[in-house]
Amino acid sequence: MKRLTAVGTCMYFLILAGALSCAPGRMWGQTGKATAGTAVSLTEAQVLDRATKLLRQMTLEEKVAQLSQLPGFPAPEFMETVQRKPEEILKQFGAGSILWVSDPKEINRLQHVAVEQTRLHIPVLFGLDVIHGYHTIFPAPIAMASSWDPKMVEDAQTVAAREARAVGIQWTFGPMVDIARDARWGRMVEGAGEDPFLGSAMARAQVWGFQGRQPGAPDRVLACMKHYAGYGAAEGGRDYDSSYVPEELMWNVYLPPFKAGLDAGAATFMSAYMDLNDVPASGNRWLLTHVLHDTWKFKGFVVSDAFAVRSLVIHGYARDLDDAAYKAFTAGLHMDMASGTYLKYLPLEVQQKRIAMQQVDEMVLPILETKIRMGLFENPYVDESKMAGVLNAPESQQVARRAAQRSIVLLRNENLLPLDKNGKNVHSIAVIGPLADTQIDLLSMWGSNVEPGPTVTILQGIKEKVGSAIKVGYAHGPNLRRTFASPFENIEIIKMKEQPEQTPEQAKQAAEEAVALARQSDLAVMVLGEIDIMSAEAASRASLRLSNGQEEMLEAVVATGKPVVLVLVNGRPLDINWASEHVPAIVEAWYPGSQGGNAVADVLFGDANPAGHLPVSWPRSSGTLPLYYSHNLTQAPETAPDFKSRYWDIASTPLYPFGYGLSYTTFGFDNLKVTTTARVDGTIEVSADVTNTGSLAGDAVAQLYIHQRAGTASRPVRQLKGFERVALEPGAKQTVHFKLGKDELEFWSPSLKTWVVEPEQFDVWVGGDSKAALHAEFSLTE
Ligand code: BGC
Repeated sequence: MKRLTAVGTCMYFLILAGALSCAPGRMWGQTGKATAGTAVSLTEAQVLDRATKLLRQMTLEEKVAQLSQLPGFPAPEFMETVQRKPEEILKQFGAGSILWVSDPKEINRLQHVAVEQTRLHIPVLFGLDVIHGYHTIFPAPIAMASSWDPKMVEDAQTVAAREARAVGIQWTFGPMVDIARDARWGRMVEGAGEDPFLGSAMARAQVWGFQGRQPGAPDRVLACMKHYAGYGAAEGGRDYDSSYVPEELMWNVYLPPFKAGLDAGAATFMSAYMDLNDVPASGNRWLLTHVLHDTWKFKGFVVSDAFAVRSLVIHGYARDLDDAAYKAFTAGLHMDMASGTYLKYLPLEVQQKRIAMQQVDEMVLPILETKIRMGLFENPYVDESKMAGVLNAPESQQVARRAAQRSIVLLRNENLLPLDKNGKNVHSIAVIGPLADTQIDLLSMWGSNVEPGPTVTILQGIKEKVGSAIKVGYAHGPNLRRTFASPFENIEIIKMKEQPEQTPEQAKQAAEEAVALARQSDLAVMVLGEIDIMSAEAASRASLRLSNGQEEMLEAVVATGKPVVLVLVNGRPLDINWASEHVPAIVEAWYPGSQGGNAVADVLFGDANPAGHLPVSWPRSSGTLPLYYSHNLTQAPETAPDFKSRYWDIASTPLYPFGYGLSYTTFGFDNLKVTTTARVDGTIEVSADVTNTGSLAGDAVAQLYIHQRAGTASRPVRQLKGFERVALEPGAKQTVHFKLGKDELEFWSPSLKTWVVEPEQFDVWVGGDSKAALHAEFSLTE
């Protein structure tokens, strides 16, 4: 066949699909809603028409290839089930997508194969986990959720999309929106924490950041809502273990962020790995067909998590791979990620008439439609000459620095912070800890495994900030290692690594050097926590203690009598009970990204006033997990005189509540005004005044919580239903306004098996965290 250029290919499809018009398209993922233009400015009817015409020309093998994502890395051994190398499949039949190729040259090479060498010239979608940045790495998602600033999150993901698209990636596997209430689960770091309302706001912001409001724009990528659904409820916090989530919790807690992403236009979903109520999510008809397709009317496509179709056999759900393909496909799963199971077995299923060709067509259609809307047929290739300019844009670093500043949470401050950077009080600082001078660990799992650009370590950030005014010493302390290695360390393309092994004597000596340095200095900044491989996929832990001798080193440094600032770099709350009483200042930096070192220094030295607030309740011990603020009332709460629920050896309350975060200034909340009554289909208006009562400018995060006092089901003691981050000069006051309508007041009632807004009495609170005291009441009537 004659080699087609990009233009030639485009022309081919122009002829194939008929003339194109400039009428508006619509938001992806949904029915009905019209928004302006796709990249190719087609109406939905034209997209459908074009996809249908293409589909009519396809053989069964070509269709099944569209339902398959080929591994872009050396194929795992079991891919031998497909009996051909991925590239041979690509040449012969094409492919729906290719996973994990991020070299633009290679992307173009493979795309040329798909577009020029296959019979129907259907371009490939290139997918990668650009979860919080590609080259410029933003704070990990749990950190960005701590900003309570969806606009900032959207800005960050806009940059991430632009960079990813500049190298040829058109599809990211994010946002990850799994609600996580158990800090033992290593993937808490990838999501927005424990709360469905905050989680939904972050889901929307990320979808808009990745995809934009104008789907198909050339500097945006497709979003993918993952891991659908219930993955964060893994039993015991053990990654990949089964989840048992009753239907009321699915609807009220675990599903809302997915629905929010869908409503924001998310083009794709990813099915989760684990068993949900005994049916693996990747073969779960209730999730994929009943909820997603029939109830939510999702019109995009669902990809499995990596190898999850094949895993249906391992779960003991499918008899063999043939059965796995059948069960996943008929449950409503469109695309098989990298397991090759669809490739080999779906054709057999059709030949044996267990699956009808029409079913195959229905599953292929949304994949073709997505590629058409994305403009891939017109612009399949990436312009390699533009990449360097996009990746190295200095303004992206500014977005990253601001994102990290806004994500940092000040947990404790006994008059120590901010530090003076001019050397008036402090002449020497000891920067200590295994995370103080590391780059990769500031980036978190998905940040370090893409193509990160330069990263500023915390030591560098501090040095840069104080210049020659303060002497800065550094001691690493003992190395951080897991008791059991991560499986990711064996994968060549993965960059996360443990720190080198040490003998007990070497570790002890490293700690002693750190203590000695602290003794010689005026103040110590201790940067402790978890290297990236400790808080990621396959990184669950039973204890939340500061591991590898970090706790002991911290206690020894505090014992020197020098003031200590503890900076935490981690992906989940850790056990800092001792520190919370003995260390005067504690700063939660999470994994702060490329500009993390600068942002931490900005906060330590007062150039940025911290305003992050916790998106998770902070446990005192892993024994209290799962832990979340919006639990139901018990007849015997901890405050009861005799029969109390909970533990006799430890307070069951969190160390720091959900929504908590300090500032270098203080805020007051008052003048709470609430519509006292409304009909169930009406709206309650709430307003309150927030005043900066301190002497520095800073941001408050006003949070609104409600409680329904009675109804067809017991309702949580509090539920977040509104928030706003407001910047206030010293002494300034601002009124925040919230509306409580159907979306905020309804819940899925397990007694009635449907969504209800009930005519009942409600409490409402507004304040700076989930313990807010400013209270009022309202009632709803029929
Ligand atoms: C993870 C997903 C990820 C996929 C592709 C899986 O191991 O669970 O979150 O998107 O790999 O990289």
